[in-house]
Amino acid sequence: MNTEVIQVYDTKTNNPALKKAARLIREGELVAFPTETVYGLGANALNPDAVKKIFVAKGRPGDNPLIVHIAKWEDVNPLVEEVPEKARLLMDAFWPGPLTIILKKSSEIPDEVTAGLGTVGLRMPAHPVARALVTASGRPIAAPSANLSGKPSPTTAHHVLKDMNGRIPLILDGGKAAVGLESTVLDMTEEVPVLLRPGGVTLEMLEKILHRVVVDPAVLKPLRSGQQVRSPGMKYTHYAPKAPVIIYRGDSDKQAQGILKAVLDYVSIGKQVGVLATRENKKCYEGRGAVVLEVGSRLKPDVIGANLFSALRKFDDMDVDIILAEGIEEKEEGLAVMNRMVRAAGFHLIDV
Ligand code: TXA
Ligand code: MG
Repeated sequence: MNTEVIQVYDTKTNNPALKKAARLIREGELVAFPTETVYGLGANALNPDAVKKIFVAKGRPGDNPLIVHIAKWEDVNPLVEEVPEKARLLMDAFWPGPLTIILKKSSEIPDEVTAGLGTVGLRMPAHPVARALVTASGRPIAAPSANLSGKPSPTTAHHVLKDMNGRIPLILDGGKAAVGLESTVLDMTEEVPVLLRPGGVTLEMLEKILHRVVVDPAVLKPLRSGQQVRSPGMKYTHYAPKAPVIIYRGDSDKQAQGILKAVLDYVSIGKQVGVLATRENKKCYEGRGAVVLEVGSRLKPDVIGANLFSALRKFDDMDVDIILAEGIEEKEEGLAVMNRMVRAAGFHLIDV
């Protein structure tokens, strides 16, 4: 299959790229499209055969459910059994935006979307192209991140092409994703809401609206064997570049010392080392034979989030043997950053 990439500059209804994408969605084909979080790989959520194609194109385990994207408030009710008052408050506060809300699903949603679960994750994205595609196709769109399963999520159309070339007919290019990490996933089907995946809508922001939010233990820790999984996506290796990743956690200066020592050790045995550095510490590693990528200041975890996946993919392009990464504080957007980093590292952490 030939994969076409078309830049979308405007979202007028007569935009030929959008018309083509909407037609493909209605015909049961896949289209990759930009959202404010990461690029999505979309299919008509009401067409089970179209949804199955997503799992094939990504190599995604069949028991990992998909998020359904909508564009209008009226789209919510037909897709769910009920909308609890607290969920309504969250929608008012954070939609359109990077928050996925898990509710009990209606019979409209095929089992293929939810991997047989009785719940569905709904999200109203903020990106104009994502919204225009949902509107133009007239269908809710099921879409996971548009990467091959296990790889870092794509934040540019180029990343999508790298993973999906020959697997899907069309990629809409809307530039770099602003948030750069996937949406916050919040389970609203329990008495107390459970944060399953931190994202651009932070725990602190949720706590301003909700009385109480429980953070699922799997957000920062590996699942213990036999532990029940609330979000099937947590079971799988994620965001992994080709090279092994080690995260240094703790005091910033001690991280820099620990990483520098490791850089010198690896370089002395001929290894190509990548360092994922903060702005504050990057100078410590420069000129020591490592490839240093700076992702932003510790004071701006949202910026680090926006650059993280792209940096991991750059290390892949440069074929480094090992990646040493500075950890950041697990608050505000830093919680989402660390949730992705510890998974990219397969929970290989060094506390300094
Ligand atoms: O920002 C995003 O959410 C992006 C863009 C494209 O919207 N999408 C995305 O989808 O990240 P995906 O499939 O890569 O991640 C969805 C996560 C998975 O970990 C999945 O297990 C979880 O959400 N999830 C989806 N539906 C669920 C449900 N009903 N119950 C529990 N977890 C669910
Ligand atoms: Mg994903």
